[in-house]
Amino acid sequence: MWGTRGESATMVVMPKNSLQIKATPAAQLHFGKVIFPLRVFLGVTYIYAGLLKLTDPNYFSKTAPSGVLHQMQAASAHSPIAFIVNHAIEHSTLAGLGIALGELLAGLGLLVGIWSRIAGLGIFGLAASFFLTVSWGTTPYFFGPDSVFMAAALPFILGGDGGYLSVEAMIRQRVQRDAGVTPGATLSNKPLEDQIQRRTLIQSGAVAGGLGIAGLVVGAIGHKRNTGNITATPTPSATLTSSATPTSSGTAPSGTKVATVADVPVGSAFQFTEPTTGAPAYIMQPKAGTFLAYSAICTHEGCIVNFDKGNNIFACPCHGAQFDTASGAPTRGPAQTPLQKFTITASGTDLYLA
Ligand code: FES
Repeated sequence: MWGTRGESATMVVMPKNSLQIKATPAAQLHFGKVIFPLRVFLGVTYIYAGLLKLTDPNYFSKTAPSGVLHQMQAASAHSPIAFIVNHAIEHSTLAGLGIALGELLAGLGLLVGIWSRIAGLGIFGLAASFFLTVSWGTTPYFFGPDSVFMAAALPFILGGDGGYLSVEAMIRQRVQRDAGVTPGATLSNKPLEDQIQRRTLIQSGAVAGGLGIAGLVVGAIGHKRNTGNITATPTPSATLTSSATPTSSGTAPSGTKVATVADVPVGSAFQFTEPTTGAPAYIMQPKAGTFLAYSAICTHEGCIVNFDKGNNIFACPCHGAQFDTASGAPTRGPAQTPLQKFTITASGTDLYLA
């Protein structure tokens, strides 16, 4: 029985086997010690990843190949959740900010031991979203890091940090002491236990909020300092032309082979990945021997356009823009500018992107 301040005496559950009551916290602590190296690694890695994004002057750029918009566009071409990615593309800055902040907060939470289960869940969710987009084309799957991060987050989702070197555990112990309860004791007084939990939650939340704000300030300062060093990024060239006729010279033209003639039957469109940027693009053969190539990136807000064979148009699923397949010009808004064109050269049975 433990005395409490200002309350009637509080009963402590005393198990018949006293070893049992000591074993549970000890086992938790042991668990926390065993997974501590993994916790440090994950925490530091996610803090680093979040800060890297927040301080990268190109990350929120709409044109930089390393920007989040471009990465989403490239991932959308092969992702099984392309319909979600396409909607995220519409709000790429917000999505990028969410990813960067999510990584920063999850890393901080796990490293210092605040809401470790939620931090583990956040890391699992972030890694799963990358696994289904950026890493989806990686074979075998273990060459991509995201499945490993998903697996590494599971112990923290299931067991938390075990209370080892954990700020939340320290807060709880202090709250228990303030309530006149021996830290680690199991209480049968539910109102008191609820009160301890509530106070622990509030104080942990305050610390988590403080850490988040500190991380944001560091990211904002880094971003401001780096914006002066933005690298020039390639912009679509208005002078690119797009038609090509097969040559019979037998000499391979310069450029990158992106398809074969057989991939693009007359009247169809073949999707390929533009090698310089990794973004999706289409090759068409409107009539035998004539090839056209366009970027699949909608010029409105960057969603991936689809080829509508029945109507012979490119249609954007996001806001309904349509593009003429003969010129790439928009035939329906909100897009105002044509799809980017590429030069395709046919040589023998192969198609080359200039
Ligand atoms: S992104 Fe808006 S219409 Fe394509």
